[in-house]
Formats: sequence, C-alpha cells, structure tokens
Amino acid sequence: MKPVIFNNTVLRDGHQSLAATRMSTEQMIPITPALDAIGFGALETWGGATIDSCLRYLGENPFDRLDTLKKLAPKTPHMMLLRGQNIVQYTSFPDDVVEAFVACAAKHGMNIFRIFDALNDTRNLITCIKAVKKAGQHAQGTICYTTSPVHTLEAFVAMGLELEKLGCDSICIKDMAGLISPSTAGALVKQLKAKVKIPVVIHTHNTAGLGGAAYYAAIENGVDAVDCSMVPFANGTGQPDIMMMLAMLDRSDRRPNYDTSSFPKIREHLEKVYDELSAFTSPNNEKTDADILQWQVPGGMLSNFRNQLKEQGMSDRYEEVLAEIPYVREALGWIPLVTPTSQIVGTQAMLNVKFGRWKMISQPAMDIALNKYGRTPGPVDPEVLAEVIKRTGQQPVQVRNADLLEPRMPKLKAELKAKGFDDSDENAVLWAMFPLELEIVLKGEKPAAPAKPAAAPSAAASAAVGRKYVLNIDGALHSVTVEEAK
Ligand code: CO
Repeated sequence: MKPVIFNNTVLRDGHQSLAATRMSTEQMIPITPALDAIGFGALETWGGATIDSCLRYLGENPFDRLDTLKKLAPKTPHMMLLRGQNIVQYTSFPDDVVEAFVACAAKHGMNIFRIFDALNDTRNLITCIKAVKKAGQHAQGTICYTTSPVHTLEAFVAMGLELEKLGCDSICIKDMAGLISPSTAGALVKQLKAKVKIPVVIHTHNTAGLGGAAYYAAIENGVDAVDCSMVPFANGTGQPDIMMMLAMLDRSDRRPNYDTSSFPKIREHLEKVYDELSAFTSPNNEKTDADILQWQVPGGMLSNFRNQLKEQGMSDRYEEVLAEIPYVREALGWIPLVTPTSQIVGTQAMLNVKFGRWKMISQPAMDIALNKYGRTPGPVDPEVLAEVIKRTGQQPVQVRNADLLEPRMPKLKAELKAKGFDDSDENAVLWAMFPLELEIVLKGEKPAAPAKPAAAPSAAASAAVGRKYVLNIDGALHSVTVEEAK
C-alpha cells in the first residue's frame, strides 16, 4: 500500500486546541518555509476560529495572513476548516455571502476546503461545495463523528456516499471530540474505502489518549491521510504529534518518508512560541483524560465548563451538569457536539440543572428544535418540541434555513461604503460575520487587549461575544455565556 499522507495542523487546529487560537502570523512566519519544504499533504493554515481570532484579538486582517502564509509556503496545498452555511460563525448566512467568502479564500490561495455541518445536514454543505468547485479548488466533505443510537457505521458510510455524489473530492472523518476508538476508526475507514472512490482522511484529537492508536488502525485499514500536529502544539486536546506517528509506523510500509532534518529547528521555534502564549495554554489541555469517553463531550468543553459553572456558582454541580449533557443531546435529536452545538447543549444542560428541565430554554436550543440549524440526526423529543412551539409560536422549518435568507452582499457593501471603508468582497464577507471587530482592524486600531481566559484556555477565540444571554427568571437576571470548543 502507498505511504499514508500527513496533513500538518500546527498553524490552525494545533494552536486552536492548545493555545486558544492565539498564534499570530508573525509567530508563524519563521517556520512556514520549512513546513512547506517537508512535503506534507496539506498545511492547515486558516478557517475554524483563526479568522475570528485574527480580528478580535490579534488585530490582523485574516486575508493578509493567508497572503503571507501562501507566499512563504507556495508548494504545499493550503487547507481550511469551513462550517458550511455558517462560514466561520455560528449561524446560517445567505448563499451569496457563502459564495463570495469561498471565492475570496480561493483567490487568496486556499486550496482544500474542509466543509462540515454541525448536524451532518448535507443541505448545508451544497452551496460551499459548488462554490469551491467553481473556484477550481478541492472540496472535502466532512462526516462529523459522534456516538449515539442513530450514528451507526452504516449511517456514516451512507453519508460518505452522499458526499461523493455531491461532488466532493475527498471525505474527512472529523472526530472533533477525540472519541473514536481504534476499532471503530479501522472499521469505518475499511467500510468507507470499500464503498467510495475518493480519498478518505481522518482527523482526531488526542484528548482521551486514543488518537495515535485510532490513526494507526485507520492507516492499517487504508486511510489516505491523517491530520497531525507538532509538539508542543500537539497531543492532549490537539492532534497526535507527527514524530509520534512516524515512530508508531516504524517498519510499516505505510510510513511516509519525510526528511525530518529541519524538525529540531521547527520545534525549537514552536517551544518559544508556546512560552510566549503561556497566558492561553493550560496543563488541563496538555494531559490526556479519558473522562471525556464517559461523558462523550469534547475535551475543550470540559475545561470551559469548569469555568462556566464557577461563574454561575455551580462548581459543586459539575458532575450533575455533565450527566445532563447526554440527556439534552438525545432530547435535541442526538446532535453531534461541535461548534456551535457543543456550546448550545452545554448551556442547556446547565440551565436544566439550575432551574429544572426545560424550565428555561435558551434561544439557540429552541432554534435547534425548530430545525433552524438544519435537520437533526434523530427526532427532537416531542414534549420539548411542543414546549418550544408553545413559547415561540413557530413551527419547525422544513426547508434549508438559508433558503429563507435574503441575499446580503449588496447591503453589506453599502454599509461599508457608508462607513467610508473599501467595499471589497473580502471586507464584505468579514463584515457579515464580524462587523465590530473588522471596523477596529480597518481603522488600524488595536483590539481591546484580551485578558487571560480564566479557566478556559482551550476555549477558542470567539468565545463569548455575541453569545451572551441575560435571562430573566422570576425577576432575577442571570447571565449565561456560551464559549467555543473546537
Ligand atoms: Co479539530
């Protein structure tokens, strides 16, 4: 069999998972040419929370970052994580904004678009897939891996076949929570490879310590590529480390033959950057913790939770809230836990424990029940749905949510013009998602210096802003903050 391909995630998921997405372009520049020279399948350089982090915390224009990295790494394909119709935000955007975003990213050098939907609703991927193909680039369809009675291997394989039919160039098994066991990874890859003709990639996190073994099983069963990072931005809540994976593949005919002579220099630089980002790193993220397997929640969510419960004066109810998460997931149709559903389910579990089940329902949880994020994998609990319909006076959406949205590009451009800013497509798509943050960057002002995130360093960049709810319960105001996992 051919050697397996390694994709390198250190410039995106590596620091998103272990340093709250705070690595700046300046910190990336010294190692980017060396990373380009190694011959990885792809360098993940953009998307996920990096765009938010550039604007909100680093005072960088994300397109400038892409230009810089592309120039320094022209040989290796660049890869980004795209949240389907949500682009890199939490809610649906109209098709014209999604199309313009993809076109801009491609124009600035993006090659591989890894497109996912938090509910695995493929209707939310179609606009992105078409836009990527139109730009002549690589559309990677994503299966968000999770466990539930409705998430069987057969269902995942059926989704893989559908992604192939939709025109995807490859398929990614995205195990954002690091839950996949070696036996499941092996079996899923084997079945997918038997059914689909396009390449299969697997992405996991080493949170529970299963990552390396899951990759090994996937590789033994013919997976085409795996996502790896580089220590110290690897392992723990990040991807398995490249050197570890190379060692694991000793004597395997699938071991890729990379020239590792530049690795010590790269590592030396990354160690320095890790130290510089010490306000955003945490031992909680560095250790492997199989507790997530018991709760089935992403590792990043666990550390956010400790913090969130502390703020709510509920530290003593940590286990109770965690135990509520699987119940909320089931009631909301067994949705996978990935941005933004992980935050929505976590917050609702907290509200259920604090006020009693479904006494207080957050707006995003109601939107999930009303299919505003897409079709849920399983049915929503009829009693919960009835309650939501009663409170909102709305019925569940039957069509794709974006079909209900008016085109926005002309309006976005008019708004930029009225403010005296350049009304380029690049500015317009960022304006759609992050208007306040973009305005600060366009004016050349410094973003408000971020404090160390108290106990939630893995909470990726976007965190609370725009997701802060003040709830009025019997006259008392309660603030609920939703933070980001990855
Ligand atoms: Co990830």
